[in-house]
Amino acid sequence: MCETCKALADSLENTRLEVEGAIAIVTMDRPKALNALSDKTLNELDRIFTYLAGAEEILGIILTGEGKGFVAGADISQMQPYGPSEGRAYADRAQTLFNKIEGIEKPVIAAVNGYALGGGCELAMSCDIRIASEKAVFGQPEANLGVIPCFGGTQRLPRLVGTGIAKELIYTGRQVKAAEAKEIGLVNQVVPADALLDAAKDMMNAITGKAPIAIRYSKVAINRGMDVDLRAGLELEKDLAALTFGTEDKQEGMDAFLAKRPAVFKNR
Ligand code: CAA
Repeated sequence: MCETCKALADSLENTRLEVEGAIAIVTMDRPKALNALSDKTLNELDRIFTYLAGAEEILGIILTGEGKGFVAGADISQMQPYGPSEGRAYADRAQTLFNKIEGIEKPVIAAVNGYALGGGCELAMSCDIRIASEKAVFGQPEANLGVIPCFGGTQRLPRLVGTGIAKELIYTGRQVKAAEAKEIGLVNQVVPADALLDAAKDMMNAITGKAPIAIRYSKVAINRGMDVDLRAGLELEKDLAALTFGTEDKQEGMDAFLAKRPAVFKNR
């Protein structure tokens, strides 16, 4: 681990940052509150993702939680006194962070170990891929508290599972276990609890073994493409494909294929 990364890791209280090869593992670590998203946790996640965005040696990120929560939501004790302007500012703050996580030009896998409720479900949905432990539980219970999902839930949930199911889950606050989450397209894979991190690492190793610039531009093309019409998305795809055709890794990938040998990518 480099000095900057170590100094950052040492300064964290509600989260942890570990590095294994080219993979960063970020753990929400306030289990006594089921990793609820207090200001401090949001701050730390922001600092971690700012660092990871510029850390060239890191090619992929896994986000998980300590204990029986992934994240049980926004911090209700913190929000309890909020009026409209504080509520809006809190939502703005979390949305800005979640946009940063969604937009980081590296793959992010949520390894959902337990409760992913409210802001926790919204955080998982900001990641590229979700792998759930059999113990994971998802839901948007905000209506129980008299508010609506405001860390992206009303927007990202219907994009993932469709408007009908999103409306049902948001209107009823019903909690969904891992198997059903997979059935409705909220998670990619469900694994036994003790296999969760290994499953996330296996998938991330498969991804980081590919040409990193191709992965980066695939993410940009998919994310930006979801916000524009098909023709604009296809134009973007052509432009980003052209950039990949100019990389050393494109030459290496195609040379290696034709020479029937494994490619060695350099992120160039
Ligand atoms: N905020 C603050 N503290 C929380 C919390 C949260 N979101 N979720 C759990 N905690 C705390 C509990 O208050 C409790 O603390 P104490 O031990 O000091 O009493 C501790 O974590 C353990 O929780 P429980 O004793 O409740 O654990 P449980 O196993 O009985 O229940 C649970 C687990 C079903 C997840 C339950 O804790 C729960 O319903 N939590 C709230 C979930 C929720 O409503 N989340 C949405 C918040 S709003 C939001 O996120 C959205 C948004 O877009 C603004």
